Amino acid sequence: MTNETNGNFGDFGGTYLPEFLADILGELAAKYDELKVTKEFQDELKALYKNYAGRPSLLYYAERLTKKLGGAKIYLKREDLNHTGAHKINNVVGQGLVAKALGKKKLIAETGAGQHGVATATIAAYLNLECDIYMGARDIDAQKPNVYRMKALGANVVHVTAGQGTLKDAVDVALGAYAQDHANSYYLLGSAVGPHPYPSMVRDFQQVISEEIKAQIQELEGKQPTAVIACAGGGSNALGAFTAFIPDESVELVAVEPAGKGADTDRHGLALGKGSPDMIHGFKTLVLHDEEGEIGESYSAASGLDYPGISPILSMLKENGRLNLGEATDKEAVDAFIALSHLEGIIPALESSHAVAYLFQDHGKYSNPDDIVVVNLSGRGDKDVENVFENLM
Ligand SMILES: Cc1ncc(COP(=O)(O)O)c(C=O)c1O
Repeated sequence: MTNETNGNFGDFGGTYLPEFLADILGELAAKYDELKVTKEFQDELKALYKNYAGRPSLLYYAERLTKKLGGAKIYLKREDLNHTGAHKINNVVGQGLVAKALGKKKLIAETGAGQHGVATATIAAYLNLECDIYMGARDIDAQKPNVYRMKALGANVVHVTAGQGTLKDAVDVALGAYAQDHANSYYLLGSAVGPHPYPSMVRDFQQVISEEIKAQIQELEGKQPTAVIACAGGGSNALGAFTAFIPDESVELVAVEPAGKGADTDRHGLALGKGSPDMIHGFKTLVLHDEEGEIGESYSAASGLDYPGISPILSMLKENGRLNLGEATDKEAVDAFIALSHLEGIIPALESSHAVAYLFQDHGKYSNPDDIVVVNLSGRGDKDVENVFENLM
């Protein structure tokens, strides 16, 4: 059963942590429950969305892409136009307000692609808080511009060399640092993963994306979309784009995961597609495993999608049949990155390019010009251009 109060989503979610950490997160959950229903908190959140993040983001009719594909009308939800260049800002303004209400002095966060790190460093600067960002060494090499942005914003970027030097390892080390310094610090988790209350809290702060899409498409087209498509790393932009549509079963929801070097290799990040239930980072969800049955390594050229788990809310939506799954390889994502840049003059993040790539695949769907498909363009590709041209083409 789904029980949002305890953070259970069907068979997934929950809190599986040492008692003292579970207690701290219990207090956070109680504080968040208290805050989120106050008018003051909601007014402050709306003001930051509007005046700081730059919301509402555009819903853009991609006319040239639509012509090229020759079927459904394609719209792009332009989260890339938000302040700091991705959907991540929606979450950090919300959690920044929670940290402030708790009287914390420092923000601790993990980052993969660096977008969440940049967003956290940004809100730390805005709220005059100290900021430590944990980032895997492999991701630091792939996402250099974002490392410099975090430093410019005054954050301390901590290199994580443990494990594979990717997002999972950064989360491990950051959680350890938080356990040491929890009295002073707030752990600002960047996706709809982790123990309760993070999945629900991050989903709540990202839900504004689908609320805007609903209103914007109604005004532009006088009806609701046939499908909404989003990439899924941890699942926050996907849940942001899907949540308001979940009750409307006529809207197809597609989460596109990274197939990396290929779904039939062991170098991918298909947690929803190929994972099985397990515990990771203090919660239960679909997780990739290796041949020994241990938690496996994920892989994607898009650092933000390179995580062996997934939001417990997406795991539940998959299990109850509300979610359709897609996948795109590194190569398909790079091709979509170039195609959208050439066609529309919009350079998408490599993560978002996975969602765009889904459109170029033949699914036997979306061929009717009366259909409307919305792709959530979760971020801009400025951080990726060097890596794409130097390493991925
Ligand atoms: C632009 C962009 N899109 C998507 C993601 C994946 O995260 P999530 O699945 O939580 O949206 C990231 C993560 O860093 C990102 O930077």
